[in-house]
Amino acid sequence: MSAPAPAPHAEDVQPGRRAHGSLPALLRRRQQVVLRRRRAAALGLVAVVAVSGFAVTRGGMPFSGADPSGGQVEAQAAAVAVPPPPPADRQGATVAAGQDPDALTPTGPGEPCRAEPGGAEIASGPVGGAAFGASALGCTIPAWQALPPTPLEATDARMLLAQVTREQAVDPVDYVPEDLVPLRGGVYQARAEVGEQLDALFAAAAEAGHPSLTVTSGFRSHETQAGTFADWAGRLGEERADLLSARPGHSEHQLGLAVDLGGTCNYQCFGASPEGQWVAANAHRWGFIVRYPQDGQAVTGYAWEPWHLRYVGPRAAWGMHLAGEAYWEHFQPVAARAAGVH
Ligand code: DAL
Ligand code: ZN
Repeated sequence: MSAPAPAPHAEDVQPGRRAHGSLPALLRRRQQVVLRRRRAAALGLVAVVAVSGFAVTRGGMPFSGADPSGGQVEAQAAAVAVPPPPPADRQGATVAAGQDPDALTPTGPGEPCRAEPGGAEIASGPVGGAAFGASALGCTIPAWQALPPTPLEATDARMLLAQVTREQAVDPVDYVPEDLVPLRGGVYQARAEVGEQLDALFAAAAEAGHPSLTVTSGFRSHETQAGTFADWAGRLGEERADLLSARPGHSEHQLGLAVDLGGTCNYQCFGASPEGQWVAANAHRWGFIVRYPQDGQAVTGYAWEPWHLRYVGPRAAWGMHLAGEAYWEHFQPVAARAAGVH
């Protein structure tokens, strides 16, 4: 079915706010978070050793369960139950890239993996190993649990990883994120980290030959979503509208974590366009997932929306990619548990 274009949502946008932050700034903040966690984990470890005489160790990167309240994250770092690592054949870059492990060429610490000397970088891993404090891992793209949380996951994992469906409402139902910024300097908005990651995704898309990407929607308040749904229902009837548009209080756009993209071809044919296909194959590298996959209506309740990206952070998005999992409905409990969200 070819869906007509949704009505614009510019009416709920607050113009005049500047996007703040840049990718380097985000990376710096990530590095600061990682350093803080390493220090805190070391302190926590010392405390555990001092009290119990047992040292708890584990391999890989420092891991911290994020605390949605924003407090005590570091102090809890050493005590967080780390989920079991994925099976060996699901770890690392080789599986994700469909490569033979022996074909990988190790490079220096922090350098990208290459399939062969001088060959192309493996494209499917999370972007910028160093951004996740992973430089010590050399060319190994780590298992998803080993990636440190981004600042948003470290401070607001409950909302970042929220499950919002036709049945499950945004909590609280009148929620408005406090850190909305304009996307790409335009009229649509999303949470600050989403804006920064989207800038990076657009830059990579342009570099890959897809400069036509545009943003066609972002944050929508409860009130705006009510108007959006009513508009669809008026045009198509409620039954069909329910396949395309969330009821007010049930849209990820209200989380400030969803963006709709366009390009040379908007909405339904976006999925068949070269830029739409590039987005589908690469969005996870910046922490986005195509939230309503093709033929996924039985799980998601909605028709295919190749244009609708949901930001879940690079850690969860990479985990889904490695697991070959298409549905946030299935992966969200795993990601939430790994982040310490209950
Ligand atoms: N189109 C999606 C389901 C929304 O309205 O949030
Ligand atoms: Zn959308």
